[in-house]
Amino acid sequence: MTDDRRPPTAEQITIRLLAYADVADIASWVAATPLWQRYGVTEESMSKRLRDGIAEGAKIFVAERADDVVGFIWLVERGAFSRSGYVQLIGVRPGERGHGVGRALMAFAEQNVFAQHCDLFLLVSDFNIDAQRFYQRLGYRESGKLEDYVVQGVNELIYWKQHGVVSNK
Ligand SMILES: CC(C)(COP(=O)(O)OP(=O)(O)OC[C@H]1O[C@@H](n2cnc3c(N)ncnc32)[C@H](O)[C@@H]1OP(=O)(O)O)[C@@H](O)C(=O)NCCC(=O)NCCS
Repeated sequence: MTDDRRPPTAEQITIRLLAYADVADIASWVAATPLWQRYGVTEESMSKRLRDGIAEGAKIFVAERADDVVGFIWLVERGAFSRSGYVQLIGVRPGERGHGVGRALMAFAEQNVFAQHCDLFLLVSDFNIDAQRFYQRLGYRESGKLEDYVVQGVNELIYWKQHGVVSNK
């Protein structure tokens, strides 16, 4: 039976831990994404960050469809205020965006985090209107602003979702 509410590709997506073999490919499309170019991310810096993350046992997961990696998410338990879950990074491969991969990754994150914590935080750039809409649809609400926090001229919006709380916005 099909469920029309489900994202079109969700049933074909599997989520597993990031492996060293995934790093070069992910780093290449992340570095080609205008959002991350604005933050000065390069293929080299992203590769190092992901490799260091694996070495440190970070919770970095990839979404796979038909053996192709189509997205990733980096979760940090107690990453916000040593208390709440935090999504450090999420990205979907260009060409795969808008087809439910991001939604599937966030559903996976919430399943993981809400088993132990009451809430989940993330930061989104003030100019990243598409991503803001994406999080709002998933029930996140803007809860503050960090001016020039990561790079000068860009404000980071704090998005927050509490488990079991339905946002009215
Ligand atoms: C934001 C992102 C993770 C969402 O994942 P996704 O797989 O594209 O999202 P889904 O298909 O599950 O949901 C679609 C929604 O995502 C949003 N979206 C964000 N960027 C989008 C893009 N480039 N193309 C299509 N939809 C996009 C839209 O609001 C869309 O909702 P709509 O139906 O109102 O158009 C992904 O688009 C992405 O990697 N973007 C570039 C990097 C980025 O912005 N990362 C987040 C940093 S906080």
